[in-house]
This record gives sequence, C-alpha cells and structure tokens, in this order.
Amino acid sequence: MKIAIYHASKYGNGAQVADEFRKLMTTRGHAVDVHSIDEVKPKELPPADLYVFGSPTRLGKPIGGMRHFLKKVELPSGTRYAIFATHVAAKPDKKTGEMPTMDDMAKWQRSIPIMNDILISKGLVKVAEMKIFVVEMKGPLEEGWQKKVEDFVAEILATLKVH
Ligand SMILES: Cc1cc2nc3c(=O)[nH]c(=O)nc-3n(C[C@H](O)[C@H](O)[C@H](O)COP(=O)(O)O)c2cc1C
Repeated sequence: MKIAIYHASKYGNGAQVADEFRKLMTTRGHAVDVHSIDEVKPKELPPADLYVFGSPTRLGKPIGGMRHFLKKVELPSGTRYAIFATHVAAKPDKKTGEMPTMDDMAKWQRSIPIMNDILISKGLVKVAEMKIFVVEMKGPLEEGWQKKVEDFVAEILATLKVH
C-alpha cells in the first residue's frame, strides 16, 4: 500500500517518529513518503491508501501550522488516516512533588481529539492514533518510543487487514 506522512515537527522528535514508521512499513513492503507540512500544499495531496498526520503540541493543541493544514486538506470522503501527536511527559510539581491530575493532563494533551474532529468532519475515516512523549520540552523521545511506533504500525496493518 501507498502511505503518505505529513508532519509538523519543530525539534525533530516527530520527524524521528515518522522516519521509524517509514522504516517499519518499508520492511513490510509498503511505500512510504514522508513530508513536512511546510513542503506541500494541503489542497494538492497526491493519492495514497493511507495518510498519516503527526503534530507537536502547543498549549494543549496541535501546533497552529498543523491545524491550518488539516483544515485546508481536500481528500475524498472515506479516505483513511492515522495520526500521532508528540507531547512532553508529565512531571511532578517542583513545589508539591505531586503529579498533575488526569484532568490537568487531558487539558495539555488535546492534540489527538482536535485533529480527529477536523478530519472526521471532512468524512475521513480513522484507522489508528498514537501519543508519543518527549522527556523535556524539546526532546529527546522517551525511552521505549520505538515499541510504540511498532504497535502503531501493527494496529494499522491489523485494522486495514494487510500484512
Ligand atoms: C511553547 C511550547 C508549548 C508547549 N506546550 C505543550 C503542551 O501544552 N502539551 C504538551 O504535551 N507538550 C507541549 N510542548 C512540548 C511539545 O509537544 C514538544 O516540543 C514536541 O512534541 C516535540 O516535537 P518535535 O520535536 O517534533 O517538534 C510545548 C512546547 C513548546 C516549545
């Protein structure tokens, strides 16, 4: 199958995730093109069997460039997509030592639901989604991230019933 990835990585972590995804899918015989959203026009995306969108998070939301990109994307209804968002891992409060609550974390991690809302409202169909964490604001990726990408690939292939 032909897969196109569009990411908005600023510090390179999301780009690393996209590259790992490309490697894993390529070894399974799929053709993967990886692009930064800055290189392409959202209304002129070439045909693919699956589109993957990946965004860093800013103040709880996908980075502005990705939100604008997704809003402008023109793809046929029924087109399948997968998404990933990168987030900074939660840390205990410096003063109290307490971890943020689930509610607090949800506020800072709305990238995936926001991207889904935009794409589903265009009639696109979600295949899989993945959250990936960086240790500090600008990276590096948290230990074990490659396994998450492997699981993401496996979920996509299982859902689409391809090998
Ligand atoms: C100004 C700024 C605001 C950020 N806000 C959030 C946030 O609200 N939630 C979150 O999980 N990560 C936040 N981050 C961390 C980013 O998600 C992280 O830099 C990004 O995932 C790294 O991916 P990249 O290397 O592909 O750009 C923020 C980073 C910056 C620089």
